[in-house]
Amino acid sequence: MTIDNKILEDKLAQIRHQLHQHPELSSQEHQTTLFLNSYLETLGYRIVTPQTLLTGVIAEIGPSDSKIIIGLRSDIDALPITEKTGLTYASVNEGVMHACGHDFHMASLLGAAELLAEHANKLTGRIRLIFQPAEETHVGAQAVVEAGGIENLNAIIGFHNKPDLKVNEIGILTGGLMAAVDQFKVSFRGQGTHAAMPQLGNDPIVALTNTVNTLQTIVSRRTDPQSPVVVSVTHIDGGSTWNVLPETAWFEGTVRSFDQSSRQLARKQFYQIVNGQAETFGLSVDISWIEGPDVVDNDIVLTPIVMEETKKHAKLITPKPSNAGEDFAYFSQKIPSVFAFIGSSGTTDWHHDDLIVDDRGLLPAAKWYFYTANRLLEYFGGKTLNDR
Ligand code: NI
Repeated sequence: MTIDNKILEDKLAQIRHQLHQHPELSSQEHQTTLFLNSYLETLGYRIVTPQTLLTGVIAEIGPSDSKIIIGLRSDIDALPITEKTGLTYASVNEGVMHACGHDFHMASLLGAAELLAEHANKLTGRIRLIFQPAEETHVGAQAVVEAGGIENLNAIIGFHNKPDLKVNEIGILTGGLMAAVDQFKVSFRGQGTHAAMPQLGNDPIVALTNTVNTLQTIVSRRTDPQSPVVVSVTHIDGGSTWNVLPETAWFEGTVRSFDQSSRQLARKQFYQIVNGQAETFGLSVDISWIEGPDVVDNDIVLTPIVMEETKKHAKLITPKPSNAGEDFAYFSQKIPSVFAFIGSSGTTDWHHDDLIVDDRGLLPAAKWYFYTANRLLEYFGGKTLNDR
């Protein structure tokens, strides 16, 4: 490569700082979109963003008549968190922060864009960069799919920065890397009454607390201990004062799982327990269940190829799967994909208001995109770049 590593490293750090300073919430990434557009246009990319995609950018490079197309994905949205890093380039958008490192992802993919542009006339297939909106709300990847953004791709790769991995460490494994996400909300309706005369009403609070405890038996007694499942009730509410039993009480939370049978079993058990408790206490109940992204499932054929390539340029490790979700799963379900964890030597973890990631992780991430994309072009029929 002719581009100087140090110059590129500094440039990517600058880009990340700029993006970090101007974070935007999911589906509102308008300035970010403008920035990415103009950056990619300057590098000579064809902007192919479908009109129906309101934020986010899709751009291509390489021979436009090639049938081989590899997708590289970065997410672009930030979180409703007030930043407490004290950085000179801290967020200027009050209450909004790149607390998941999607600024890191964008800067890395722009770094790969630079390297690809430098080799543009040698590319033997097309590379499609997908800067996807609204990952945090789990609607962005679906929007890209519905807009036709992954049509004709042979494969797609992506990564999430991992604060607990060191710079230059890259974690990849075949199969489930990140969990399937389900979200639930349950409302019990009984009959309100004076706290001193419970026999005159029907108390939803006792039913709710029984239910919350019983739900823990899904994991301890029902699902296969070899396949991780998490059931977390995260928010409960009912009543408004000390001497009145309320009419309603509700709770919400999430289920995480790593395979379809556990996912279905947990849901079935959940409904059985909640409906059973409602019947036991003679209450009516309303259950709402929102299916989030599926497991991020790394392709059985492509993953070993990507791992082999990764080993040449970074320290490849076997990561612990994460119970967090990733809407990259909507791509994984449609086309062969590989998702990685790339070390960012963070000060804390994802979604913390004081998370600072290490800029020295940007260049290894950019190169991972670049080398892996080329390796996959080669796998799907293109030729190897001769000056790697
Ligand atoms: Ni994230």
